[in-house]
Amino acid sequence: MIYFVAAIAGIAGFLFGFDEGVIAGSLHLLRGEFNITPFSEGLMTAAVPLGALFGALVAGRAVETSGRRALLLVAAVLFAVGALLSALIVAVWMLSVARLLLGIAVGIAALVAPLYIAESAPPARRGMLVSIYQLAITLGILGAYLVGYAFSESWRTMFLFGALPGIALFVGMFVLPDTPRWLAMKGRSAEAGAAIARIRAVAPESPVVTAELAEIARIAEADQHKGTWSDLFGPVIRPALVVGIGLFLLQQLSGINAVIYYAPVVFREAGFGSASTQLLATVGIGIVNVAMTVVGMLLIDRIGRRRLLLIGFAGTTLSLGMIAIAAATDAAALDVLALIGLVLYIAAFAASIGPLPWVMMSEIFPLNVRGIGMSVASLANWTFNFIVVFSFPLLVSSIGLGGVFAIYAVACAAGILFTLRRVPETNGVALEEIERHLRSGRPFRELGTQPPEPGHGGLQPSYAAAGADKAASR
Ligand code: BGC
Repeated sequence: MIYFVAAIAGIAGFLFGFDEGVIAGSLHLLRGEFNITPFSEGLMTAAVPLGALFGALVAGRAVETSGRRALLLVAAVLFAVGALLSALIVAVWMLSVARLLLGIAVGIAALVAPLYIAESAPPARRGMLVSIYQLAITLGILGAYLVGYAFSESWRTMFLFGALPGIALFVGMFVLPDTPRWLAMKGRSAEAGAAIARIRAVAPESPVVTAELAEIARIAEADQHKGTWSDLFGPVIRPALVVGIGLFLLQQLSGINAVIYYAPVVFREAGFGSASTQLLATVGIGIVNVAMTVVGMLLIDRIGRRRLLLIGFAGTTLSLGMIAIAAATDAAALDVLALIGLVLYIAAFAASIGPLPWVMMSEIFPLNVRGIGMSVASLANWTFNFIVVFSFPLLVSSIGLGGVFAIYAVACAAGILFTLRRVPETNGVALEEIERHLRSGRPFRELGTQPPEPGHGGLQPSYAAAGADKAASR
């Protein structure tokens, strides 16, 4: 059942990737049909991150008042309506409006879907399950490339495809309950118990339900006070905020969206002559992205968040360095180096820096500020996403491709230091234990890597609960 929950919420991730990627395949057709200025082209493309910024801002509060499920239903409607409108437009400004709606849906979904999965998942599998969301983003990107390839003559068909997962998301969320944690926070404990029983596929009177409900209720009671912005920025929660914002800043400064966007250009430079081979090679990048995300999912709950992040940042630093050297020199022999560097870069990103900020964003904030905390973290994602994509062409024309990739490499090297100094280990630790640690005032970094304080209740109950969860979900 929990995999069904993750799959449904994962449709939201698919739509995220699809709506990002679909413009790439359709742009040349739109250029042929409409009079598109560089400004309208920029607006049309940037409408998604812009709408997403707005969506994330609104969703932060609404996710607490209206619930996770209600917001995912709203996002599903926006996805379907935005896709239909995009397919029907008769002027370019209309496409900007339609993509703004899609962007709002993406912003809401990008915040609520990982939260929905994290709050429904047993601790021992939470990382892997939240990564399903990232896998879905990469499948969405690949899906958009493939739809662009298959329907290369009709941009309306390409856009229309986005309506199908939108409808599937609506139907799926319609039949699923809200998360036990949100229901409990609203004082609806009977429904919370029923939701646990359904998600864990156990009888309502099972000890698993009672134990989980008691733990959630205990934390919810201690958190009666509704989290405010000043709590979020206050000294207790700030370490979590720094980790949330920092990981997204580094994820985006690693240059991922510039690389994904410019992959066909790099392939052209590397000697792929025709447009169709460039496109096929780009699909190849899409496939590596998906495949390595699966590898990351298998590793995330085994080797832990910190180690995986360190491997990812080290891998992207090295591969970006390879691309930078190859791009800075004209030697044709180095084209192969750029190509290998690009594949390694996507592989290292997809297994680590892609999924981990999403996973950790959904884990590190205490329940009463989880919504606004995740909202701020995902705002950071959209802001830096926009800055990198917008600045890429300007930077290339001033300091060259080699210089730009060198900057991204430095950002990834900074990621190694940031992980070492700031990022805690949340692997297998119950969300309630993460909150307890943060509130204890002990350095956040020490979570999961230091033994519990004597007489503190320790990690024992949570690990026991994690074990029970694991047994129950088998
Ligand atoms: C990032 C996106 C990126 C995608 C690529 C996500 O984790 O947030 O900006 O396009 O990964 O797979």
